[in-house]
Amino acid sequence: MSVEVFRTVDEIREMLARVRRMGATVGLVPTMGALHEGHGQLIDAARQETDCVVVSIFVNPLQFDRPEDLERYPRNLDADKKFCDDRGADLIFAPAPASMYAPTHRSFVEVAGVSEGLCGQSRPGHFRGVATVVLKLFHITQPDRAYFGEKDAQQLAVVRRMVRDLNLTVEIMSVRTVRESDGLALSSRNRHLTTAERKVAPILFQALVVAQKLIAAGATDPAEVKSVASTILAQQPSVRVEYLEVVDPDEMRAVTRIRGPVRVAAAVWLGSTRLIDNVLCEPGTAEGSGLIQ
Ligand code: PAF
Repeated sequence: MSVEVFRTVDEIREMLARVRRMGATVGLVPTMGALHEGHGQLIDAARQETDCVVVSIFVNPLQFDRPEDLERYPRNLDADKKFCDDRGADLIFAPAPASMYAPTHRSFVEVAGVSEGLCGQSRPGHFRGVATVVLKLFHITQPDRAYFGEKDAQQLAVVRRMVRDLNLTVEIMSVRTVRESDGLALSSRNRHLTTAERKVAPILFQALVVAQKLIAAGATDPAEVKSVASTILAQQPSVRVEYLEVVDPDEMRAVTRIRGPVRVAAAVWLGSTRLIDNVLCEPGTAEGSGLIQ
């Protein structure tokens, strides 16, 4: 059966009320569209674990700090619908901005601490926009489980914290970052890279893997790890580093010593395209099997 598209809050609510009356569980995959294999794996996980898979497609204006980024964000509902069909999703919720935010909208969700560093520092208001829309999507669709990618590790940490703090019952599931064969993490923004920038882009992952190996081999000083990774990024003068940090994986705050699992996270610019990536690092796993990307 082909995926059904719902454009209003009332319609999707009515449909999901019927689904739940039949005793089915609901899995939500929140997206902004421009679907790629990374989203595909979120849908696959939801497909395996829940009865009714809802993909939300909504380019959320509240989380964009730069109007030009919002404007050029890729939108193609027909292609996304085909993608969802092929992947076996059941329902798409693709509301118009006006049906998510009335002109009188005044309520926002602020997740302090975990939202403040890294992307939160360079993109003021970004996580407030993410948390607000994700909470709205949770209320609208009332999923049993919701699926997020580890590439956006800070977003995942913000959502987990919101769920805990606000006593939401949805279970947050994370799915590993999907990468091109040269290591570049899949992202809707990769399509903005020029041919020359695309060639250079894998250096971000290469730098993170070197950091991961250093930590696995016993490095405990974040400054040393950052310095080695920065030197690698500096080999490509077209790469501008916005941040490169070693953080606690739950709080997403910079650590002063590496004593347990950490994430090394970075944001870089290539021309007008911003790329983010991160790796989870386990100290003392130099023999390799524990490395997680
Ligand atoms: O990761 C995204 O695509 C967005 O931030 C999300 C979670 C769909 C909220 O708009």
